Amino acid sequence: MAVTFTLNGERRTVESAEGTPLLYVLTDELALQGPRFGCGLGQCGSCSVLVNGVERRSCQTPVSAVTGRSVTTLEGLPAWYAAQKKLARPPALHPVQQALIDEQAVQCGYCANGLIVKAAELLARTPRPTDAQIVQAMNGHLCRCGSYPRVLRAIRRAAAAIQVTA
Ligand code: FES
Ligand code: FES
Repeated sequence: MAVTFTLNGERRTVESAEGTPLLYVLTDELALQGPRFGCGLGQCGSCSVLVNGVERRSCQTPVSAVTGRSVTTLEGLPAWYAAQKKLARPPALHPVQQALIDEQAVQCGYCANGLIVKAAELLARTPRPTDAQIVQAMNGHLCRCGSYPRVLRAIRRAAAAIQVTA
């Protein structure tokens, strides 16, 4: 079946068997490297993307479910952020990406895609989150390296950076 959707601002049409997970289309057909296969069961968050601005597990989302919708992957987050903030041009990195680097928050990096996508969603909705709101938002993202305290610091840092930009 043919499925048309917007991917990181560009209209794309793919031919996929019905029920094909969006993750497979993004990684195998469209060669994106942001979303990652982790558990394949919707439990780890490494495959997360934004669908119409809402975080979704792409391993559990049939590609047909994004027909006519807007999918943003890690690769598209800086432009997505720039559109929200009405910036003249996208930054090189979304503030969450920059903050994770500045805090040296991740180790192996396998969870990073999902952490960044989820934190970007959180800060778009809740620009000044409490620690409890951050923890609650990130609860469904597993990090086998135990980077949670540094990720918390990084999200606080990104929130502060966004306030300066606003
Ligand atoms: S790979 Fe999708 S949630 Fe783990
Ligand atoms: S940094 Fe290794 S899984 Fe999170």
